[in-house]
Amino acid sequence: MDVLVLGSGGREHAIVSSLAASPRRGIIYVAPGNGGSAPGAVNVDLDINDATAVVDYARRNEVELVVIGPEAPLVAGVADAVRAAGILCFGPGARGAQMEGSKQFSKEFMQRHNIPTAAFGSFTSADAAYEYLEQVGAPIVVKADGLAAGKGVTVAEDLEQARQAVQECFAGRFGDAGARVVIEECMSGPECSLLVFTDGHHVLPMAPAQDHKRAYDGDTGPNTGGMGVYSPVPIVTDDEYATMLTLMEQTVAGLAADGIDYRGVLYGGFMLTADGPKVLEFNARFGDPETQVILPRLRSDLLDVMVAVARGDVGHIELVWRDDWAVSVVLASEGYPGDYRKGLPISGIADAAALCGVTVYHAGTRRLADGTVLTNGGRVLNVTALGSSFEQAQSKAYQAVELIDFEGKQYRTDIGARALRGRAAWS
Ligand code: AMP
Ligand code: GLY
Repeated sequence: MDVLVLGSGGREHAIVSSLAASPRRGIIYVAPGNGGSAPGAVNVDLDINDATAVVDYARRNEVELVVIGPEAPLVAGVADAVRAAGILCFGPGARGAQMEGSKQFSKEFMQRHNIPTAAFGSFTSADAAYEYLEQVGAPIVVKADGLAAGKGVTVAEDLEQARQAVQECFAGRFGDAGARVVIEECMSGPECSLLVFTDGHHVLPMAPAQDHKRAYDGDTGPNTGGMGVYSPVPIVTDDEYATMLTLMEQTVAGLAADGIDYRGVLYGGFMLTADGPKVLEFNARFGDPETQVILPRLRSDLLDVMVAVARGDVGHIELVWRDDWAVSVVLASEGYPGDYRKGLPISGIADAAALCGVTVYHAGTRRLADGTVLTNGGRVLNVTALGSSFEQAQSKAYQAVELIDFEGKQYRTDIGARALRGRAAWS
């Protein structure tokens, strides 16, 4: 079976690497892809947000399954067009993708279906938003309604900061995504993600994962797309896990009740509050970098799972996981998440990947014809290690990180450190 994967990040390299291990796979096209390679995978130049171009390419190349990695093509309705063309598609249509594409949509969904989440208000004018800020007081969270590449959220410590966030949103900092502002009660507690495969009816949970969103050690500095991640999450109690799973099942049942045919990954971002897990956000896709610790632990054939999801028939599938722990450290370009240089040569990838249990996923990289790999983005590589204990996975990941070099290599040295200190590290 020939497959087309859309996207260019570490998430897509991890998806392609897992699909490449399937005995059933044919050619794996990845658009646009990056400098990472996998057996049988070919990079193709394609505008992934252009539904017509994606369908044409898939038809011309007799692709039987399209896998959509990032949120933008999902929100743009590419999955609807692919399915309408009679081609299997892994990823929800535009209506389902609104769970990520509009904070207001997902908050109203949660309200309607009794999914615990922060109290909120939603505004299209600054004056009404300022009034609400005064009523609720700080700390308070201000969010652009639409897609803002993870940068549209401000956790404001005081009202001045909150007002400024509202003002920037309406001033066009996030374009159309900021035309509406969602303001939320500020919750506290450790964060944890639970991703599930779903065909719109059944739910197949993956193990919980925990991302590190701040740029620098000690959870300081600006928010990023994610600087490192691990899975499973040792601080999550059995009760919390059971609650998160029930909430994901309730969410999928709510989507079905609302007439939304959701086929793909539903990502639940949770805060483990003193009153139990509450939803921070939903994403309509695999997380990046969560995927880079989840998929290496999956023993089941990913292609079988994705085809079953796309066909709407996962009832017969049981996922099998490795017992290992997984830790992934992101190597970023100097200056990320602000401005950074591109085109710097990277050395040591093969040495790092040769360590037992280590996989180096490419994110912002580009490969020249002679095999040289250059930096080509903010997040450059994701170094994932599996180990029989959390500590072993963590120390192996950092051993591999030391073997890789490029000018300005920036990474956090404390991925997983807080989890090892236990729950008290969050209070
Ligand atoms: P989101 O994109 O909605 O997940 O928000 C990004 C990050 O902002 C989350 O991972 C949290 O760290 C933080 N955040 C979002 N909403 C809240 C909230 N209601 N209370 C506290 N922190 C929040
Ligand atoms: N790592 C968070 C996300 O993919 O949205």
